[in-house]
Amino acid sequence: MTSAKPIFLSGIQPSGLPHLGNYFGAIRQHVASLDTPGEHYFFIADYHALTTIHDPETLRSYVRDLAATYFALGMDPERAIFFRQSDVPEVTEITWLLSTVTGMGLLERAHSYKDKTAHGIKPSVGLFTYPILMAADILAYDSTIVPVGKDQVQHVEMAQDMATHFNARFGAEVFVRPEPQLPDRADMAKVPGLDGQKMSKSYGNDLWIFEEGKKLKKAVGRIPTDSRDPGSPKDPASVQLFDFLALFLDAAELEEWKDRVRAGGDGAPGYGHLKARLIEAIDAHFAPARVRRAELLADPAELDLILARGAARARERACKVRDRAYLACGLR
Ligand code: ADP
Ligand code: TRP
Repeated sequence: MTSAKPIFLSGIQPSGLPHLGNYFGAIRQHVASLDTPGEHYFFIADYHALTTIHDPETLRSYVRDLAATYFALGMDPERAIFFRQSDVPEVTEITWLLSTVTGMGLLERAHSYKDKTAHGIKPSVGLFTYPILMAADILAYDSTIVPVGKDQVQHVEMAQDMATHFNARFGAEVFVRPEPQLPDRADMAKVPGLDGQKMSKSYGNDLWIFEEGKKLKKAVGRIPTDSRDPGSPKDPASVQLFDFLALFLDAAELEEWKDRVRAGGDGAPGYGHLKARLIEAIDAHFAPARVRRAELLADPAELDLILARGAARARERACKVRDRAYLACGLR
């Protein structure tokens, strides 16, 4: 069952506009994985998004936006199977099978569920069983590598547990054990939000990657600073703006800014200077993709067609895995 070549798989919820955390923690590694030979499955997790988005038009527009964003950032639907989660109904069939081998205790330990409810999201059964649907996503394609940000690692580990429990209960090698893959830089695995906590759509502290002009300026303006004056020497580790600058500047330029902040005195940049450099860097980094995204969004029919083609290819494998699982547990 385990194939020699890796099978990459990951998804993002269309629950808002993609932010810097989604880009550095997920999308960037998804696109980069295309250079490693193997199979590549990436999808828009719209079933999952229903746990928080309850307006149909909003959901539809976020789905198209996420597709256009991925393609604009280099996701190639010729090299990857790129699709919408709900176009592969076998995933919900596998979800049920997995739910019968999953203990309540496992789900009760999920950090993400605890975080979301602590941030005021009303818990539905769907929010609680979210990790089972996610495990089904992963196991339905025999994935071996799941590139995600740090917050999703526990969910991938739960998928490992569910695969093991199912195989053990039915004495068959039905599901393949996946491994999470984090970005190689720790700061990209957990990007801070504009308030210093983890950046997340659910926390209202996120920055859309294509933000520009006044809105970008206002968002960067929210990054916390203190009242120390520009000339006083500072430890760069105490200046949160550097966590963001480090994502965009090359090592030499970053060190130069840090040296000037450490030294203090007349030549030291104030927080305003650092913010201006950050705005410029974000804008420059995403400008080409911003243009491409707009072009892609102008042709929604074409986006829908690409997603439908991806779904047809994804279903081929998901049907085989579903059949294997049904046979093992006596449903066939
Ligand atoms: P959100 O928390 O904003 O709802 P998602 O849960 O949809 O984001 O996450 C989509 C992908 O982006 C996942 O792989 C997740 O690990 C990654 N991700 C989300 N927030 C961050 C962050 N702040 N830093 C790094 N990666 C992140
Ligand atoms: N839960 C993930 C998130 O919030 C999205 C997701 C759904 C996912 N299914 C997945 C990620 C399978 C990786 C693999 O980001």
